[in-house]
Amino acid sequence: KRVAILISGRGSNMSALIEAAKAPDFPAEIVGVLSNRAAAPGLEIAAANGIATASLAQSKFLSREMFEDTMTQLLEGWEVDFVCLAGFMRILGEDFVNRWMGRLINIHPSLLPAYKGLHTHERALADGVAEHGCTVHFVTPGLDEGPAILQARIPVLPGDTPETLATRLLVEEHRIYPEALRLLATGTARL
Ligand code: GRF
Repeated sequence: KRVAILISGRGSNMSALIEAAKAPDFPAEIVGVLSNRAAAPGLEIAAANGIATASLAQSKFLSREMFEDTMTQLLEGWEVDFVCLAGFMRILGEDFVNRWMGRLINIHPSLLPAYKGLHTHERALADGVAEHGCTVHFVTPGLDEGPAILQARIPVLPGDTPETLATRLLVEEHRIYPEALRLLATGTARL
């Protein structure tokens, strides 16, 4: 299966997917990385791995629909079967989501349905939760609402800050995202 990854920034989850896909028995190949920011550090990592890259700034388009149609054209040009959002910081419109539904997944740094949206670590700490986590889920039109494919949990430790929590959680993100992509690519996880 052919997979594209959409990023906006450092791309550590992207890197985890690229590394996992190097295993000969991995059921998917990362064929392209698309960023909405030309300065995203992840683009260089992808290029250094011989993966096609592109960047498209939404501000250069007259509408979100035109931006997203251009993304779809690029993805179709790469002949991708699946699209992974990995720190892609734009909310996708209904047309794009419907076009890719069932083939579009995201990683979110909380135990969904808890803490949709931004600042998940801050909000979890402020609530004094004992456990935090991350979720790989299908993308559906409602923000962070699609069904989960995999979750990982970590304990909140005394003295945790949003940064320490994020750092420990990232290890789990990098573990479950490739696993979830494997489930998707083999047809084990389906919407
Ligand atoms: C991760 O915490 C991910 O869960 C969230 O955005 C962050 C992206 O980090 N959606 P990276 O670009 O993958 O390093």
